[in-house]
Amino acid sequence: MTDKRNGPVPVSDPNAAMLAGRTAHGTPTTEFWGEAGRPTPNRRTPVPHYETTGYEFGDETRSRAEQIIARYPHPRSALLPLLHLVQSEEGFLSRDGLLFCADLVGISEAEASGTATYYTMYKREPCGEHLVSVCTNTMCAALGGDAIFARLCDRLGVGHEQTAGEPGTPGSVTIEHVECLAACDFGPVVTVNYELFDKQTPDSAEELVTALQRGERPHPTRGAPLTSFKQAELQLAGFWDGREDDVDAPSAAPESLRGVQLAADRGWTAPPMPSDPPPFPDLPEKK
Ligand code: FES
Repeated sequence: MTDKRNGPVPVSDPNAAMLAGRTAHGTPTTEFWGEAGRPTPNRRTPVPHYETTGYEFGDETRSRAEQIIARYPHPRSALLPLLHLVQSEEGFLSRDGLLFCADLVGISEAEASGTATYYTMYKREPCGEHLVSVCTNTMCAALGGDAIFARLCDRLGVGHEQTAGEPGTPGSVTIEHVECLAACDFGPVVTVNYELFDKQTPDSAEELVTALQRGERPHPTRGAPLTSFKQAELQLAGFWDGREDDVDAPSAAPESLRGVQLAADRGWTAPPMPSDPPPFPDLPEKK
């Protein structure tokens, strides 16, 4: 058993083994965690670690970074899309990427790290061509999300935040279990590179992942056509690279609009806004 970053995992260290996606005896953590595929309460949160890659961001990336910063009144406000921009290059957030962003907006490495570690969309391990996210939050879990995650872990032979195949190569897949994907009306939900695949079952999710590994790109239930994780990151940074149609891809479905339709059918309307609403309080100036 080998942890791709730290080498062989000592069987005497069950916590290290769990972080590597295996139990101390080498079985997938899904078995160790049980059917629910959830970590045991004593699983320790790893200390934030950023891999140093020596990657040098080129002129095009610098130009894009300047465009992002120009969108905001304060450079530091551009940090989130900048972090997506560097992920679109390396497929994860390396220390080089973190420092690149921090330097551009004039903040410390610790400040940038504090933001990056708050959001789960910033990855500290290289991702596969595709990122498969399985919702195991309350609604989806009740409808079978945990079973889907367990099936995919078994199918891929890896655990949470681990990659089947060489990260970044065609057909490689990173899997994770995530909190609510804001599509509870279509649960259980899986996303690939943040595009929605609604009403999944263990079988349909396994078929989806198998297709990704074959190099196919099944069309999401709603929204834009599937792309790669890196290209999705570029879009999250605000660059569409000839995929402008993605912005207008349909995202609503009858289930989501049911309440609006009921209100229309029954003549329900929202109460009117007051004619003289109180003024907003003055906001302190941002520094
Ligand atoms: S609980 Fe899964 S999308 Fe909300």
